[in-house]
Formats: sequence, C-alpha cells, structure tokens
Amino acid sequence: MRFTLIVFLLLMLFGGCAEKQEQDYVIGFSQCTGDDEWRRAMLDGMQREFAFHNNTRLIFKDAHANSRVQVKQIEELLQSGIQLLIVSPNESDPLTPVIEKAFKRGIPVVVVDRRTSSPYYTAYVGGDNYQVGKTVGDYTAALLNGYGKIIEITGLPRSSPASDRHRGLADALATRPGIRRVATLNGQWEKDIAKKELRKALPRFPDIDLIFAQNEVMAMGAREVCNEVFPDRKIHVIGVDGLPGQFGDIQMVFDGHITATALYPTGGEEAARVAMNILQKQPYQKENLLQTAIIDSSNVRMIKMQTDKVISQQNDIERQQTRIDEQLEIYQTQRGLLYVMTGLFIVSIILGSVALYSLIENKKINRELNSKNKEILVQRNRIQDIAEKAQEATESKFRFFTNISHEFRTPLTLILGPVEELLRQKNENPAVRKNLSLVQKNAGRLLWLVNQLMDFRKIESGKIRLKVSGNDIVAFIRELMLPFDPVARKRRIDFRLITTLPALEVWFDRDMMDKVFFNLLSNAFKFTSDWGHIYIHVSSAGDSVIIKVQDNGSGLSEMDIAGAFEMFYQGKNSIKGTGLGLPLSREFVELHQGTITADGKKDEGATFTVTLPLGVAHFQPEDIADPAVGITERAVSWTTAEAETEEQSATMPRHDLPAVLLIEDNEDLLAFVTGLLQGQYQVTTATNGRAGLDLCFDIVPDLIVCDVMLPGMDGLQITTALKGDMRTSHIPVILLTAKNNPEQLVEGMQVRADMYITKPFSPQYLQESLRSLLANRLLVRSAQVGQGITDTDTGLSRLDKKFINQLRTLILSRLADPGLTVESLGKEMGLSRVQLFRKTKALLGGGTNDLILNLRLEKACILLRNPDLTIAEIADQTGFTSQSYFSTVFKNRFGTSPKDWRLVQS
Ligand code: FRU
Repeated sequence: MRFTLIVFLLLMLFGGCAEKQEQDYVIGFSQCTGDDEWRRAMLDGMQREFAFHNNTRLIFKDAHANSRVQVKQIEELLQSGIQLLIVSPNESDPLTPVIEKAFKRGIPVVVVDRRTSSPYYTAYVGGDNYQVGKTVGDYTAALLNGYGKIIEITGLPRSSPASDRHRGLADALATRPGIRRVATLNGQWEKDIAKKELRKALPRFPDIDLIFAQNEVMAMGAREVCNEVFPDRKIHVIGVDGLPGQFGDIQMVFDGHITATALYPTGGEEAARVAMNILQKQPYQKENLLQTAIIDSSNVRMIKMQTDKVISQQNDIERQQTRIDEQLEIYQTQRGLLYVMTGLFIVSIILGSVALYSLIENKKINRELNSKNKEILVQRNRIQDIAEKAQEATESKFRFFTNISHEFRTPLTLILGPVEELLRQKNENPAVRKNLSLVQKNAGRLLWLVNQLMDFRKIESGKIRLKVSGNDIVAFIRELMLPFDPVARKRRIDFRLITTLPALEVWFDRDMMDKVFFNLLSNAFKFTSDWGHIYIHVSSAGDSVIIKVQDNGSGLSEMDIAGAFEMFYQGKNSIKGTGLGLPLSREFVELHQGTITADGKKDEGATFTVTLPLGVAHFQPEDIADPAVGITERAVSWTTAEAETEEQSATMPRHDLPAVLLIEDNEDLLAFVTGLLQGQYQVTTATNGRAGLDLCFDIVPDLIVCDVMLPGMDGLQITTALKGDMRTSHIPVILLTAKNNPEQLVEGMQVRADMYITKPFSPQYLQESLRSLLANRLLVRSAQVGQGITDTDTGLSRLDKKFINQLRTLILSRLADPGLTVESLGKEMGLSRVQLFRKTKALLGGGTNDLILNLRLEKACILLRNPDLTIAEIADQTGFTSQSYFSTVFKNRFGTSPKDWRLVQS
C-alpha cells in the first residue's frame, strides 16, 4: 500500500516535470528548382521561421526545374503522410492536377511564388508579378524619357511570374508609344539560356537602349552579352529579384553593372508563418501578395546597407539559433540526467523505505523470535524436568522390577528344589509326576526370566564381568543341543549341527554363551513348525568363528530384523516374548567383542549369526577364568519337562464319560487342564480356533472349554459359530481368557457363551464349573420326552427348542413306521447319526433310539385306553414289528404287560 502511494507520487512528479508538448507537424516543401540563390534564400527564410516551431519537420524536395519530376515528388510527399504541402510549381498547368489532388484530399496547400492554374489551394504567398512588370515598365519609360528600344527576356512562359510580369510590362508600355519592345526572348529563368537567346538577337538591334530580364540571373547574363556584343555602348539592364548579398543583384546595381532591379521577395518566412497558422488553426489570409519596389542608384546604397544589416542580423540570429540549439541540447541532456537522478533518488528513497521497513519488521520478528525462544527454553526445561522425572520413574520401576525379580529367586528356588526332590522320589502316579514336571518347567522358566532381568541390570550398571575360558566350540554346541533333542524328535524337527570342524578352541564365557545359544535355540523351536528344520552351522573365517542358527519357521519381517535386538521389542509373529532374550544376547556377544545379526524373510525362516573373534588377545587379563563352568540345569529341565508332558498327554479315552473339547494355544495350559479333567471326562484338545471348530462338528462334545485369544479364529467367533448351528447349538461353552476385561466379558455373553472364566483360575473352580454346567443340562431335560417344548421353557436356546420340537414332530408323524431309524431321522434333520445321537442325548438325556421308543410307548399308553383297539393293532400303530416284541418292551419299561396295564387303567 505504502509503495503504491510512492509510485503514484512519482508519476505525478514526472508528469509535472514533462513539458506540454505541441503536436508534431510534418510539412512537405516541393521546390521547382533549388539551384539558384533566390531559391536558397527562400528555403533559408522558411527554415528560420520553422525554427521557432521545433515540433515541425520539413521534408524538402527539389525538382531541378523539371515539371514531371516535381509531380512525382509531390505524389511521394503525399504518400509519406505530410500534413501540409508548400509548393512552388515549376509550370502552372502541368502541376495543377497533383496540387488539386492534395488539396481535395484535405491536405492544406500553400502555393509560393509561382501559381497554378486552378483556385484549389489553401493560400498563396508571393510577390505581385504583374506589379513587378508594371513597375519596371513605368521605370523604363522614365529612364528613357519616353523614347527608346527595349528587349524583354522572360522566364518559362508557362510559369505565372513570367506571364504576369510580361503582362505588367506590356500594360505600362501601352501608354508610352515612344518606348518600343523590339524583341521578347524566352530565357526560361536560366542565365545560360538567356545569354544564348540574347546573343542571337542583340546584333540585330545595335541601337537598343534597355534590356529587361525577368530575373536577376538572366539580367546578369544580359549584361555579359551586352558587354560582349556592344562593348562600347552603355545599354541599360533591368532585372528582378533584389537579392541581397555579395552575389545578389543589389550588389550588381550598387556596382553599376545593371541599372536597376525590381524587388521580388522570396516569401520564405511568410509562407512558413501562413503554414503554421493553418496547421495550428489560427486565422490566415488566402492571398498574401508581397510588395515590390525599384532599386537603382538612387536608393541602392541605403537598401544595400539595410540588406547587409539584415544579413548580418540573420547571421546573428542563426548563430543565436545554433547556440540555442546547443543550449537546448545541453538542456535536454541535463534534463535527462535530472530525470535519471530524480529516478535514482526516488528509487533510493523506496529502497531506503524498504530497508527501513525490513529493519523494523526484522526487529519485530527478532523480538517475537526472542520471546518464542524464551518460551521454547522454558518448555525445554520443563520437558527436561519431565524427562528426568520420567527417567527417574523408569529407573525406579526398573529397580523395582529387578528387586522384585530378585525377591522371586528365593521362592522360585524353594519351589524348584522340593519339586526336583519329589520327582527324584520316583512317584508312581503319572498324573502327579506330570503336574510336578509342569511346575518344574514353569518355575524354571520364571527363574530364567528373572535371571535375564537381573543380567540386564548388571550390564546396565556395568557390574557384569566376563569369565572367559578356552573351550571347544563344537563340543559346547553339541552339549547345548542335547536338551532340545527330545522335543525335536517328538515334533519331527530335523535338528542338527552342520560343521566340517572336528574341534575349534574359542575363548568365551560359558555361562553367557550358554544363555545366548539357549535363547536362539528356544526361539528357533518356538517358531518352527513340526516337520521343519533347525540347523546350527559352525565355521571359521579368518580370525573369527561363525555360528549360525538357521530355521525354516515363521521367519522375520524387515521390522523384526530391525528391532530384534532392541530392548522390549515384541514382533508380530516371530519375535514374541519378553523382548529381553535377544538384546541380552547381543550384550553378551558384544562383551566378547563379537557380533550378532538377524536375517530372514517373513514365512521363509530366520537365521541368527554370532561371530566371535578367535584367540584370547582381545580380552583383559581379569576377564580370564577357570574353564570349569557348566551349563545351567534349568535349560535341561524345562525342555525335558516339555517333552515328558507332551508324551504323557496321550492317555486312552473312556467313552462312557462326558466328552469335553479343550481349545487352547498355550500348550502348557492345555496339558495342565487336560491333566485336570482326565479321568472324569473324555478330553479332546485343539491348539487353534479353526481346528477346534472342526472338531466340534466332528465329535459334538458335551462341553467346550475355549480360550478367547486364539490363532486363526478367536473364542468369540467359535462360540458364535457353534451357537448358530443346529448341530452344536446345545453345547455349553466356557470361555477362558487371561484378560480380565469387562468388555470382553460382555462380548462373551453376547455371543451366548455359557460361562466366562478369567485366568489365572482355580483348577477346582474350573472343575466345579464344568460339573454344574453339565448338571444343568441334565435338568433341562425336564422337557420330557413326550411333551413339546414351548417358548416359555427356559434354559434352552431358540435353536435347541426348535430342534426338539422338530425331532418330536418328525418321530410322531412316522411312529407307525417300524423302519424309522436314527439315520433316516438324521437325514431329514440335516445331521449325521453321531450328531443327532449326541445332540439328543445332551438335550434329552438319552439316545435317539430311546427317544423313539419312549414316544412309541407313550402313544401305546394312549391307544391302550381305547378298548376298541386290539393289542396287535396298537403294536402295529406304534411301529412295533410284532405284538410279542411290543409286549416285551412294554413290560421292560412299565413292569407289566400291555394287557394288564389296560385292565388297571380301566
Ligand atoms: C528563381 C527565379 C527568380 C524569379 C522567380 C520567378 O528561380 O527565377 O529569379 O524571380 O524564380 O518564379
């Protein structure tokens, strides 16, 4: 806004400085001839006048006394876009059309000296030629005292001055009969032509008194010819023009070469003035006749003085003009300079303002920045405080965890000790042994985790110390592999050491390396499926030994590889756990100045590579220890326990017990619950959701215990699927979850789970829950066999009620059919024989055949009340193949024959 104002003021200033320019004019001047002094004087006069108007430009054309050339030149001038034409036509008639054309086109035409033969011109400026002729005639008469002979030399006869002057002379002489014009010669305004003509004529007139030449050049020529032809005679010569200057005819009069001359002004200044008046729309006269006078010995001195004065003044004027031009040029230059300076001044003002503005803005910004900086500083300090507090909090949490972990060690040891003791006592009861192994395995695992935490703490506080010894790495690895062999065997995992080295001494801390490789192997086993492979490659390269643990398990994503060794990193699939094992391993390996890297691709297995430097030189003397530290017992005990647990789980099922399906992905928990329920139930297990659901449809268990968090399909989805299917809708479902989360509880209830138990749970509570759920099922069977189930009956789902009603209707409609079998019923209900049997048994307490039989007997009882029907007919109508079979079955059920029963009832 501010700049716009400045620019506006500048424009005003420049506008004010600029002069008020007159309009520019282009004027064409067509001269019939420019070859003589008179014409030059005309042009000078014109230019002197135009010099007062510096907005005019004069285009000058010289036709060199050629009319055709002059016509052409005028055409050119018209085409060049002149605004006014000044013309002195060489001859009247040949020039008239083109001059008329210019005039009619609207271009003002100023005719000078010689006239056209038409009235179509804007103004005329020139001497009065008739008067010139007349004046000369009168003067001649007086000079010759009324008697004498004269010769006239004319200009171009077709040019107006020639004819007008001739006419004026004739008129003057007409009244002077004593004066005789003996000859009229055509000198065509040219000296040489005049001389030529006179030379021819003069000898014929030896008594000639006077020669009148119509212009000064011809007069000069006449004098020369007279001197040639009659050198002894004084013949008067009279000219026209009255040109001043050294070579003009005034000088000739003054010198006595010619007698007199008639003043014929060129009219250059006057023509220019008239032209400017026309162009500037000022008043002007159309006819501007210039006066004539005779110059002879009587007045020539004075006139010469005057003309000389005029010439000198003109010279002065010209000099002044030149100086003015020079001054003007200087002025122009200075004005230009002034503009430039002013421009520069203004630009510097603008730049100065901009700089000032920027300075102020900068100061403002700086002030803002400073205050922001202060704010940031305050915030940074606050953040630092918070970070420090957070650090302190983390530290104290970590300390707390370490301490508490430390506290765990004693009780864990106290658990592990007695358990080991009990296991050593060779307790025969396999269930007890199994549970003891489980306790041992999990207490061992807890101890391992606690130790890891403690190790970390030691590393962090720099308290951990290396105790390296020289060991055969190959033997060490073999030893380490031993405890994993049973698991590998059981899970059909190809687990082997691949090396070409018979032995290789490597210096390391056995305890630490044991932890490193145990960790890597545990991970490998965790993420490798049954029938997979885990290879350990040991090789040496240069000064290092390279140990690779390679598996073809679930692999590592790029993110896993990047985060594998970060503390507490928990991968999506492959690196799940506490997030401590691998970072700890790295710390241990790096203490040995070695490296550990992870490699692999998702679903394409993982390879962990440990590189350790060979030799002992890289260790400090205090790092060296006795090579007698054994590998930990813990590793052996858990892996063995795992294998044992798995093996023991294969117990023989007992078909008379209620069937329970356990769906749980944590194999330890699965084994534990299995052990808990074995003996009282037929236990079937599944470790993922999809397999669990398939099993449900296959075996139609009496009860399902299902974890919520499961791979493949979660517990909620399984429950929804079961409860929405006729085949399984009746099965009670207990959902187990580690998350004591009320929202999940609600979700569990929404999918119609029958019970929701949160981990950790009391085994007794679980067992009681199972028992009560199954007992409730039996209560529901109060929906007696013979009666339909109504909507108001509780305890059964809508699907189950529908099932019972459908089954009952189906059986009743086919009661008389002895071929009514479970298969045919199942087919009609869309269920397999087993599914129908299981469902019927679960809902109604007996098998499908029992139900059919009950319904037959119920109907038989009703029919027996009708005395019109024989026993045989009743047996037939209730689908018994014979009366005797009917009687046997009836008697078995009611303790009396149908016949007796009828008697009692009636
Ligand atoms: C010059 C001139 C003059 C004369 C005039 C007539 O060219 O011959 O001497 O007066 O022209 O047009």
